Amino acid sequence: MKENNLTFLWKLFKPYTHFMLLAILGGIIESLAMAGIVFIIKNIIDDVFIAKDLTSLKLVVVAIIGIAFFKQLGFFMRDFLYPLAIFKVIKKIRADIYNRLLNAEPSFFITNNLGDILSRITNDLEAFTKTVRLLSVNLITQIFTVIAMIIVLIYRDWQLFLIFLLSVPFLAVSLNYFGNKRKKYSQRLRESFAEFTQIVNQILSGIEVVKLFDKKIFIRLFEKINNKLYHRQKKDSFYETIYLAVVEFIAYLATAAIIFYGGYRIINGNLTTGEFFSFLGGVVILINSLQVLQRGAVQIKALNPIVDRIKYLLNIPLEEDKGIEFTGLKEAVIYKDVYLKIKDQNILNGINLKINAKEKLGIVGLTGSGKSTMVKILPALVKNYDGEVYLDNNELKDYKISSLRKKIGMVSQDVFIFNDTVRNNLLIAKPDATDEELIQALKKAKADFVFKLEKGLDTVLGEKGSRLSGGERQRLSIARIFLKKPDILIIDEGTSALDVKTEEEVIKNIFTEFENHTVLMITHRLKILEKTQRIIVIDKGKIVEEGTKDQLISKKGIFYRFITISGEKITE
Ligand SMILES: Nc1ncnc2c1ncn2[C@@H]1O[C@H](COP(=O)(O)OP(=O)(O)O)[C@@H](O)[C@H]1O
Ligand SMILES: [Mg+2]
Repeated sequence: MKENNLTFLWKLFKPYTHFMLLAILGGIIESLAMAGIVFIIKNIIDDVFIAKDLTSLKLVVVAIIGIAFFKQLGFFMRDFLYPLAIFKVIKKIRADIYNRLLNAEPSFFITNNLGDILSRITNDLEAFTKTVRLLSVNLITQIFTVIAMIIVLIYRDWQLFLIFLLSVPFLAVSLNYFGNKRKKYSQRLRESFAEFTQIVNQILSGIEVVKLFDKKIFIRLFEKINNKLYHRQKKDSFYETIYLAVVEFIAYLATAAIIFYGGYRIINGNLTTGEFFSFLGGVVILINSLQVLQRGAVQIKALNPIVDRIKYLLNIPLEEDKGIEFTGLKEAVIYKDVYLKIKDQNILNGINLKINAKEKLGIVGLTGSGKSTMVKILPALVKNYDGEVYLDNNELKDYKISSLRKKIGMVSQDVFIFNDTVRNNLLIAKPDATDEELIQALKKAKADFVFKLEKGLDTVLGEKGSRLSGGERQRLSIARIFLKKPDILIIDEGTSALDVKTEEEVIKNIFTEFENHTVLMITHRLKILEKTQRIIVIDKGKIVEEGTKDQLISKKGIFYRFITISGEKITE
């Protein structure tokens, strides 16, 4: 276990020390009870079976029941309280990670793959719980059991114990050697399984393409992985069995040695039959405990990478939320020589732009030209740009991020609807909105379909039977901005899934509602663009044309070509 991982775990578990101490106490009680049982074997054999004494029989039975009670009490304390502490820790880790993810720097999601994040949250936390739980069982009880057994064995016959000790090094070496091998191959087997699932998954999700092309390649690919999986299963199984076989053989050798020397001492009258069997029982339990401890030691090493991965999630960089409060745009937004690179690719190449407060600005450009990136800078969804972006007199980075996001609203092509009621899906825009406000917003967004849903606002979305069409989802996301009423509104192709007639009506409502607000409208619909005061054309991260619709059309430049290509009717 790495030092810093130990400190990390210690900090996590510290609040629950009382649970852990009780669990350890439970482990001690359990081990003492085990020792008691081993100890009493002597009395059962010598006093009851051999001496045939009825009083001893009654005493022994009462003692067994008493010991059994304490043993199970200890077991309960250990096996319930220790996991409870783990569950509490995990609950807190889950909450911390969730919180981290909600407040993470946006760039985190560019450099990290969503699947990997999800796997860390689910698989790694599960593995952590399992491993820590196993360790608790192993370490706490087994350590005390080993100590208790050694004491009983020495008390019974220290010479016999020395004989037993001779076998321990052999046992330890083989436990370690085969244990490590086993561990290595079971790890490889798990990797193979993951690989196997991945390829089946991949092929099934592209089954239509697979069917339309030559299957030979896919079959060969599969055969290779299937073979590998088989070989690893074989190896894994081999080392698992040989491990058990060797360990058991050594255990038998030790037992033989004990029987030989113990028998010799019984024959000479130095040891009673009861003492001998009591000793033998102790040895069996001791070997078992050592074996479990060895496995625990391997698992501790396995815990390191898991802890590392969890720590990564708990250290996700957070956005800082401090600075000047943005209360709304008074004069203008100014982009000054704004450049931006994502993964070595130049996305923005020197944007210079002044958008006046309350202006309605149209933005046009080919897919991938950088329109979305440019506007996402305003609500700080895209950050590390070079150059400056001013909102009135202050640079964007000097504003408090939450205040920017409160005042800047965006509807984009990707609509986010989460699995909850229509009401909750709308309330994220304005948590204290009344039903009347929700209804008004839905009407303005032409989302009247909600009123026809069986449960209206209380309809749960995202479940079977209540799946919405793309256009319906988009209307809900537009309804949100009528509720939020941002000071600066960005529509990033946010009405593209609507039919032409609905789109026009919705856009009309937006222009009325946001008459006194700043609106940036990314679209290629001429009907919408003509309602704006000015249009800019973006190409390869740069503004290449600028003017009113009529100016740009008569210029017959990029804008003109773009509009004609996209099949818009030009009415001059
Ligand atoms: N998170 C990202 N990771 C990698 N590349 C990105 C990311 N976001 C945008 N890009 C790239 O930046 C370019 C501009 O994207 P975008 O601003 O969405 O263009 P537009 O909105 O004009 O279609 C594209 O080439 C796109 O692939
Ligand atoms: Mg875009």
